[in-house]
Amino acid sequence: MANFTLPTLPYPYDALEPHIDAKTMEIHHTKHHQAYTDGLNKALGGLGADWQNKNDIVEILKNIDTVPESARGAVNFHGGGYNNHALFWTSMKKGGGGEPSGDLGNAIKKAFGNFNDFKDKFSKDTVAIQGSGWGWLVFNKGSNSVQFITMPNQTSPWTKWKAEKLVPLLGLDVWEHAYYLKYQNRRADYVAAWWNVVNWDEVQKRFQQAGH
Ligand SMILES: [Fe+2]
Repeated sequence: MANFTLPTLPYPYDALEPHIDAKTMEIHHTKHHQAYTDGLNKALGGLGADWQNKNDIVEILKNIDTVPESARGAVNFHGGGYNNHALFWTSMKKGGGGEPSGDLGNAIKKAFGNFNDFKDKFSKDTVAIQGSGWGWLVFNKGSNSVQFITMPNQTSPWTKWKAEKLVPLLGLDVWEHAYYLKYQNRRADYVAAWWNVVNWDEVQKRFQQAGH
């Protein structure tokens, strides 16, 4: 039986106040992320033993095309949601924000001109996502550069691995469940506030691990 478990947060639910409120964090983690975890286990549990025994979500997402068709949509959705949220929690911290330095800062400048232009594009295009989805800074291993993409619903950038060699670095969840309690319909305000909690050390670590 597949047994992915909900990862614990590296900080208390109120750590990101006032930018992201404690109640939103608690419901987002214990209800929404839990639901993706359960959905992933259920989808894999309906497949053969070889799938039930897999425990590397990134490998599953990279090879989404090999998931039997009966479960592919569910694994794409719940597995993406499972991994997206795990990346999301750890890419935020109390007292975050600012700008990345070093290799990552340079890669962002090379791709977008300067940090503010990157931030503007990321914010504008993520706010503009129709319905539910995520904005992502990704590393493209093929072109050895960073780029911005949006992904619909819970589809993970890892599912584009075979075609485009994309590695997710920093994702922003703009499902209403991520902001509605505090910001109601004001998605742009939530996006603007979120920059204050970005954990650039973690993003830099992912960039290095991606082998840029
Ligand atoms: Fe979410």
